[in-house]
Amino acid sequence: MQFPDYRPRRLRQTGAFRRMIRETTLKTDDLIMPFFAIGGKDVKNPVPSMPGQYQLSVDNLVKAVKQAADLGLPAVIVFGLPDKKDPLGTQAYAKDGIVQKAVRAVKDKCPDMMVITDVCLCQYTDHGHCGIVDKGVIDNDGSLDLLARTALSHAQAGADMVAPSDMMDGRVGMIRETLDENDLAHVPIMSYAAKYCSAYYGPFREAADSSPQFGDRRTYQMDPANAVEAVREASLDVTEGADILMVKPALPYLDVIHRIREEFDLPVAAYNVSGEYAMIKAADQMGWLDGKAVALETLTAIKRAGADMILTYFAMEAAQLLNQ
Ligand code: PBG
Ligand code: ZN
Repeated sequence: MQFPDYRPRRLRQTGAFRRMIRETTLKTDDLIMPFFAIGGKDVKNPVPSMPGQYQLSVDNLVKAVKQAADLGLPAVIVFGLPDKKDPLGTQAYAKDGIVQKAVRAVKDKCPDMMVITDVCLCQYTDHGHCGIVDKGVIDNDGSLDLLARTALSHAQAGADMVAPSDMMDGRVGMIRETLDENDLAHVPIMSYAAKYCSAYYGPFREAADSSPQFGDRRTYQMDPANAVEAVREASLDVTEGADILMVKPALPYLDVIHRIREEFDLPVAAYNVSGEYAMIKAADQMGWLDGKAVALETLTAIKRAGADMILTYFAMEAAQLLNQ
C-alpha cells in the first residue's frame, strides 16, 4: 500500500488551521452598497425582481445610508430616477437633480460615508440610451460634454468619487479634464472600464427604469465573448486618468477581473450586478439553496479573482453576517 507523502487535509483539521491558511478574507471594508434615489417623501418602493431592494426618496435614503454606516460599510453608490426624461437627459446634470439632492442630503447627515455617484444618461433620456442619439445613432462625442457636466454636478454637490458607466469612448479623459478645471482635481474617477453588454442587468433596468426604448446597448457595451479587449479598454481609461478600474458584471467575468488585476497596478472593483443578486435571492426563496451562504461564497470568489472592492446589493446583508 502506497501512502501519499503530502496530505493537504492535515491543514484542514480544525477551524484554527483553516483560518491560518486562508488566502482570501472578505471584509465589510471591501463592500459598496448601491441605492436608487427617487423624488417624493417617505417613498419606499420595493423592486420586485430584487427582493430587499427599494427605490427610496431622499429622506428614506438618508436613513438607509445611516444603517449602512452603522454596519461599517465604507461607501455607497447612488443611482437616480428623475421626475422627467428628455432626449438630452437634462435631469442628469441639473443642479437640483435627484442624485445631486441625494448626495447633498447624505453628505450633510452622514459626512463620513463615502458617496460615489453613477454617471450616465440612460435613466434620464427618454430613449433610454447611455448617450445622446442623432438620427437613431449614438452620438459618442456629443455625449461626452453632457457626461462631463453630469460628473461635475455630482462632484459639486459633494460626491466623493464619480463612476462613469456609459461606455462612450473618451469619457474618462473628458470628465478628468472638466473636474480639474473646476477645482475638483482631488475627486477620483472609478471607471466602469470593462462593462459588458449583459442580460444580467435586467432587474436593474426595472429598478432604475432605464431600458433602451429601441435597439440595444451592443454598440457601446462590450461583447461578452471578449477578454483581450477588456485589457485595451482598461488601458485607455488608465491613460485618460482613471483611479479605479471596474469590471462588470462580476461572477460570469471572474477571468476578466483576474486579467485586469494582473495587467494593471490600480485598484480593481467588480460589480456584482442585479441579475447575480436576483438569481441567488430567487433560489433562496424557493428553498433550493442557502442564499446567505451562497452570497458570501460568491463575494469571496470575486475577491479571490482579484477584486479589491465589490459593488453589491448584498453589501448590507453581508456586513451583518461578517459582523456576527
Ligand atoms: C447603465 C447601468 C447599468 C447598470 C448600472 N448602470 C446597466 C445597463 O446597461 O442597463 C447595471 C447594474 C446592475 O445590473 O446591477 N449605465
Ligand atoms: Zn447608462
